[in-house]
Amino acid sequence: MSQATAAGILGTGSALPDKVITNFDLEKMVDTSDQWITERTGIKERRQAAPCDYTSALCIRAGREALKRAGVEPRELDMIICSTISPDMPLPATAAFIQHGLGARNIWSFDLAAACSGFLFGMTLADQFIRSGRTRYVLVVGAELLSRFLDYQDRSTCVLFGDGVAAGVFGPVSPPAGILATEMHTDGQYAGHLYIPAGGTVRPATCETVKARQHYIKMKGNELFKVAVRSLEDVSRRVLESAGITVDQLDLFIPHQANQRITDAVRERLGLKPDKVFSNIDRIGNTSSASIPLCLDECARSGRLKKGDLVLMSAFGAGVTWGAALMRW
Ligand code: UT7
Repeated sequence: MSQATAAGILGTGSALPDKVITNFDLEKMVDTSDQWITERTGIKERRQAAPCDYTSALCIRAGREALKRAGVEPRELDMIICSTISPDMPLPATAAFIQHGLGARNIWSFDLAAACSGFLFGMTLADQFIRSGRTRYVLVVGAELLSRFLDYQDRSTCVLFGDGVAAGVFGPVSPPAGILATEMHTDGQYAGHLYIPAGGTVRPATCETVKARQHYIKMKGNELFKVAVRSLEDVSRRVLESAGITVDQLDLFIPHQANQRITDAVRERLGLKPDKVFSNIDRIGNTSSASIPLCLDECARSGRLKKGDLVLMSAFGAGVTWGAALMRW
């Protein structure tokens, strides 16, 4: 295979569960209010998967849609990357179910656990493999059914997260289109700020861990908030600089949808006008690694993203991980 000069997104797709959980629904479950959630996060509602739903089933739906839009057959795929922290099961990888369900060849398919930054981590890998000529088409899926890991007695987390899946088919594109720059990071010193204590090798599942509600997401939200704003601003600036692009040249900024206040703070620090920033957090909440591809899919379908547009994406999440990617659509 010859070396491609650029890699880009050829098509996107998404799958959102039908069930909507509003802030008013949550008022009935925990000591919270629509006013608090709206003012502190910007979230009004989020989706929740039905008990019969599972991660790979939604990934297959989103993947099929992305492939159709890209004009790529499942058997043409060379790699599947599933970014998720809410897999079907600990073993095997959710990507194996996606590969089989899509009817792809026996290609390299694996899961990637980088939480909210996962789609950008996957995008960076796809970019490298496509540009090297090693692969032609890569399906990257950002998939989370976080409601399965939420403690509906913990108001500090259950109001924030939602379920959703979105996918992108990456392949060779002709410059000036394509991924212009990416930069990814991890700093494990903050690992304890957002984690699920039990169910792994440190604390295997027992009746006691279940009783102690240790299989649910725990978060130190305000500690993360400060690191998030600083990291997102820094990495966004560095990616722009490495591509020789100024903030004024950007057509669209898609930040990870963790909190509208984080988005606003980063936007202000970068000096971006509000109309250049996309947000769907009011309707979708925080869907971790599905957040950025859900935004991309929505923007692509609505015409908010047009051919030639310069789009900057940046994300921050558990690990902690963070990163940014700049792309010409
Ligand atoms: O996507 C992955 C990365 N995640 C993030 O980056 C999340 C970043 N953090 C945040 O978005 C915000 O910190 C939160 C939305 C999680 C919390 O907002 P905050 O303004 O930082 O609130 P806080 O944690 O400092 O809590 C303030 C008060 C507390 O009460 P006291 O101690 O002041 O009496 C909390 O108990 O708000 C209380 N509180 C709530 N009240 C009503 C916390 N959650 C709720 C709630 N409803 N749902």
